[in-house]
Amino acid sequence: MADKDGNKVAKNYRTDVEFGRNGGFHVKGMEDVDWGMKSRLSKIFQPESGNTVMLAFDHGYFMGSTAGLERLDLAMPPLIPHVDVLMATRGALRSCISPQYNKGIALRCSAGSSMMDDDLSHEVIAVDIDDAIRMNASCMAIQTFIGAPGEKSSIENLCKTIDAGNRYGIPTLGVVAVGKDMERTPAFFKLATRMLAEFGAQIIKTYYCDDFEEITAACPVPIVVAGGKKVTEKDALTMAYLSMQGGARGLDMGRNIFQSDCPVGMAKAIGAIVHNNANVNDAYDLYREEKGV
Ligand code: 5RP
Repeated sequence: MADKDGNKVAKNYRTDVEFGRNGGFHVKGMEDVDWGMKSRLSKIFQPESGNTVMLAFDHGYFMGSTAGLERLDLAMPPLIPHVDVLMATRGALRSCISPQYNKGIALRCSAGSSMMDDDLSHEVIAVDIDDAIRMNASCMAIQTFIGAPGEKSSIENLCKTIDAGNRYGIPTLGVVAVGKDMERTPAFFKLATRMLAEFGAQIIKTYYCDDFEEITAACPVPIVVAGGKKVTEKDALTMAYLSMQGGARGLDMGRNIFQSDCPVGMAKAIGAIVHNNANVNDAYDLYREEKGV
């Protein structure tokens, strides 16, 4: 291991230069993976735009029921036609979601804490590869807690899942968690996203922050941005737009869709930004149109 003292801070991200290994496959850094992995990645990142809209409703794995998710069986079906991927637990999918939707599945595969815990950073691998295959997962999502007490075990969970996924051609989505004591700084997100990519995660999920284009430039695999807590629709669409302009290859949104006063409108608006390069005002008009105002 290189000693960390005297490490010169990275600064030359060349954000104006496209990723160098932009061969024939539309997903960053995945030129050399196997056919099956490319097939699953193509279920996530649409070949036409190269991007993805994930509808996240896996919150129950540590929150239980939350506003907007009281009835998954009722709340999710109207949204599913407007998104590419469902990010959910196996329990939610098997009990509430028809397999006929034929959407990508980002299967929540880590767990270990609840809202009752002060420290959420201690998770385990909660779904084995057999059941991920049985669920026809397009990718397996593992939470990592860089800088938190559960850092090492979460890295171990991620790496074991990557190894199992590589055996069967299933990508791993490395999720960057931000604990309550951690700052959402560019320095933190640069560290965490690059580490997860270096471990071999094929997709990274993180949050938008300043200097975001440097984070995506330094990450050799696609970054998807989590929506975070509910904000105004305009602010959520602005964050989505800035994320895509900054090099993200998609959004993984939950609360800013299912807690909106017009969830279908928000799903459509996010899709317009992600797949049609719509600007914030045009996307916001789509939301208002659906809302009927
Ligand atoms: C919840 C998650 C969610 O997948 C992720 O945070 C996106 O949901 P939201 O947009 O509501 O933050 O990991 O544990």
